[in-house]
Amino acid sequence: MQQLNDLSSKVGNNLTSIKTAIDRVVASGWFVLGPELERFERLFATYLGAEHCVGLANGTDAIELALRALAVNPGDKVATVANAGMYTTTALSAIGARPLFIDVDLGTHNTTLAEVMRAVDSGVKAVVITHLYGLIVPEISQIAEYCAVKKVPLLEDCAQAHGARMNGQRAGTFGDAASFSFYPTKNLGALGDAGAVVTDNAGIAQKVGHLRQYGWTTKYRVDTSGARNSRLDEIQAAVLSEFLPLLDDANARRREIAHRYSTQIEHPAVIAPQRYDQEYVAHLYVVRTQSRDALQHHLLTRNIASAVHYPIPDYRQPAFAHTLDESMPLLQNTEQLCREVLSLPCYPEMTDKEVAEVVKGINSWQI
Ligand SMILES: Cc1ncc(COP(=O)(O)O)c(C=O)c1O
Repeated sequence: MQQLNDLSSKVGNNLTSIKTAIDRVVASGWFVLGPELERFERLFATYLGAEHCVGLANGTDAIELALRALAVNPGDKVATVANAGMYTTTALSAIGARPLFIDVDLGTHNTTLAEVMRAVDSGVKAVVITHLYGLIVPEISQIAEYCAVKKVPLLEDCAQAHGARMNGQRAGTFGDAASFSFYPTKNLGALGDAGAVVTDNAGIAQKVGHLRQYGWTTKYRVDTSGARNSRLDEIQAAVLSEFLPLLDDANARRREIAHRYSTQIEHPAVIAPQRYDQEYVAHLYVVRTQSRDALQHHLLTRNIASAVHYPIPDYRQPAFAHTLDESMPLLQNTEQLCREVLSLPCYPEMTDKEVAEVVKGINSWQI
């Protein structure tokens, strides 16, 4: 069976360095908020070209705590896309803030300057943009500029865009702050849950640092409300420091696989993503078709797994429907993409032969 992802290959290829890193932590007897986390925070900030990185327990906490540090409060409206798996909406609901959903472009699956302007001009407190599937939002520079002029904080959700670059600048360094997830399947993934907030602003970094540990300014003194326990542990930090130097090569291999798919998939009913000039990192390779179930079934008959990222727009999620604005217009492109998207296997350890089998699988589909 061709799986969508294969973490055991990644772990197998790096077993010695993983074991050495874990042994080092175990021998040190220091398991939470110690030297390994400080090292990873320094390494990752440097890699991105940012000033500060604050490690957290996961990427959803990173969105929430970054927004709290950006002064988003209960009742505030925050702009976000609705085609990115509910993560930002979940973070907003934890704060008691409300999403104002913005649409995305059919070709890039990402939001646009026009949509962000619409939200900012309607009075949102902050904007979250998601660099989806590994592609930096194409108009990110203009979006950052517009938000800065309007004094509306911009958070970049980079959970699917570790290492992606535009004109040499890494995802996560355009806005006021950025959130990352290091969930195991991410381009930079731990061996469990982990996340981080990255920023150039020392005040935001300090606030997130307090929010991740009960709101303590100093031990047992709480000056910051809205806090929790959200720490990235030493073992995960040590493993992430081992994986970070491998990230650029792994991303290059993902790009190569995506390039093969985009040049070799030829089917009248399948739209493959265009090839991008910028350095995108192919976190997911997502095609579109109006007969998604049939294509998914066809691939399964050839032992090829696929998945849907994501089938339900946030505003249609049953658990959240009652909290959402009834006057909200439907987002046409988001609706269409949720009906049509299908993710194909795409991960660095995939062989050329496996990629060729997936291409054959798609091209042989008789609709
Ligand atoms: C775009 C996006 N944002 C946020 C998250 C949340 O990260 P986590 O699962 O670490 O909470 C994820 C990953 O699952 C994601 O893909």
